Amino acid sequence: MGFLRSSIQVRARYNRCQIHWKEHLELTRAMVLTAAQMAPRRRRAVVFGAGLLHDIPLAELSQMFESVILADIVHAWPCRLKALEFSNVKLHRMDVTGVVKDLPKMRRCASLPLPVSCPVDFVEDPFLDFTVSVNLLSQLPWVPGHFMSKARPDVEIAAMKSQLIFAHLDYLKRLPGHTALITDTLWRAVPVEGANPESGEEWDVLSGVGLPEPFRAWDWRIAPAPERSRDLDYVARVHAYPDWKKT
Ligand SMILES: C[S@@+](CC[C@H](N)C(=O)[O-])C[C@H]1O[C@@H](n2cnc3c(N)ncnc32)[C@H](O)[C@@H]1O
Repeated sequence: MGFLRSSIQVRARYNRCQIHWKEHLELTRAMVLTAAQMAPRRRRAVVFGAGLLHDIPLAELSQMFESVILADIVHAWPCRLKALEFSNVKLHRMDVTGVVKDLPKMRRCASLPLPVSCPVDFVEDPFLDFTVSVNLLSQLPWVPGHFMSKARPDVEIAAMKSQLIFAHLDYLKRLPGHTALITDTLWRAVPVEGANPESGEEWDVLSGVGLPEPFRAWDWRIAPAPERSRDLDYVARVHAYPDWKKT
């Protein structure tokens, strides 16, 4: 569907932009640790969107918790290799929306309603003390929206995308233990010096779903010129909620 391609693209962009991503990655790691320290007990920790682990303080989490589960729909080899360094770190291949497996048949058969996400993995886990969702939320509708785009009317796709976002926010409230959320919320295209100042724009990446006031927010220079455009720097606004259930 494009999840692997997307992971490869993130890796390639990280390699090209790591100087510009440094501050964002450090702030994310610090927020993950702030949140982890709030966990009432230190048995199991789950990281949603572990991806390539650029923004995950894995060594610290592995020391703090009895076990750490890296959950993602794709575990690329850098993540697999890194996980091997820690005896209490496990990979868990998982679609956090729970709907991805149903999309191909829904694309083939237009009369089937689009899926409704209501994830249940870990909800009954008696050992789960901490879950953090790391720079994942805005990605959840991305591949499903693209995959279904030609098969359904725009209005249906838009509703599915918002529901995927809502469902993840609700999931983080339903899971046992302490939960935290770090996510980009909007992107800005900022004209570089000498470019047409009118070419700037800003758009929401959470499909219209608003978030509460963050505990901390920062800018992530995600694709500085000429990464996506010669004339525009792309900057993501990131929100951190180290205690999501209290928001
Ligand atoms: C931008 S990356 C997050 C950054 C990541 N922590 C890193 O350092 O690479 C988003 C991650 O979300 C994962 N992802 C996207 N959709 C997913 C889904 N439905 N279920 C689980 N993981 C998903 C992607 O595979 C990717 O690893």
